[in-house]
Amino acid sequence: MGKKKGKFKEMLIRLHYKYSQNNRSVILANHIAEIIKNEFDSSQNIRILDFGCGDMYVAKCVHEIIPSTNWTGTDVRENWENEDLGYNYKKFENNILPFADNSFDVVLMNDVLHHIIDEEQALSVRECLRARKTIIIKDVFEKGYFSRFILILMDIIGNWAYNVRIPKHYFSEKIFSIL
Ligand SMILES: C[S@@+](CC[C@H](N)C(=O)[O-])C[C@H]1O[C@@H](n2cnc3c(N)ncnc32)[C@H](O)[C@@H]1O
Repeated sequence: MGKKKGKFKEMLIRLHYKYSQNNRSVILANHIAEIIKNEFDSSQNIRILDFGCGDMYVAKCVHEIIPSTNWTGTDVRENWENEDLGYNYKKFENNILPFADNSFDVVLMNDVLHHIIDEEQALSVRECLRARKTIIIKDVFEKGYFSRFILILMDIIGNWAYNVRIPKHYFSEKIFSIL
């Protein structure tokens, strides 16, 4: 996907898809679908914004479980509007979502928040709240230096090849609970 990349990046992307991305997306989609089914009438149209959507494979998996979900993606990735993601897509720029207030029933932030620089995290969440009051945030916690190292390694394998920012630290459970 995207512009021509170096051979090492291409290899990382292939490895990531083979050993992680597909399995991870199916597992996460099952959890996310459960939350949506508990909160919404899944016989009705449910408009969902996938914030920091990546390849939207998680959205596709949720859509298979709940066909009434209607997905739109947004991300900061360069030239992503040229990709065939299978759903509507608009670029997220200057910390402003290109959608009117309450355009969605749910906003999903799936493994996105830790990639956003600290100073802009609150702005992004505020924009998501403007798009809709119901937000599902899934993120990872570090429990010390070793888990931080493992998370950075996993982020390098899963994201660096797409030029996604690799964080220097992650949320602790304590910090996340008071945000
Ligand atoms: C780990 S990927 C997750 C992709 C997708 N949500 C998933 O779960 O498969 C993180 C995504 O966040 C996006 N991202 C990074 N910084 C962002 C920002 N400031 N605003 C919106 N998206 C951002 C990246 O481009 C990347 O697609």
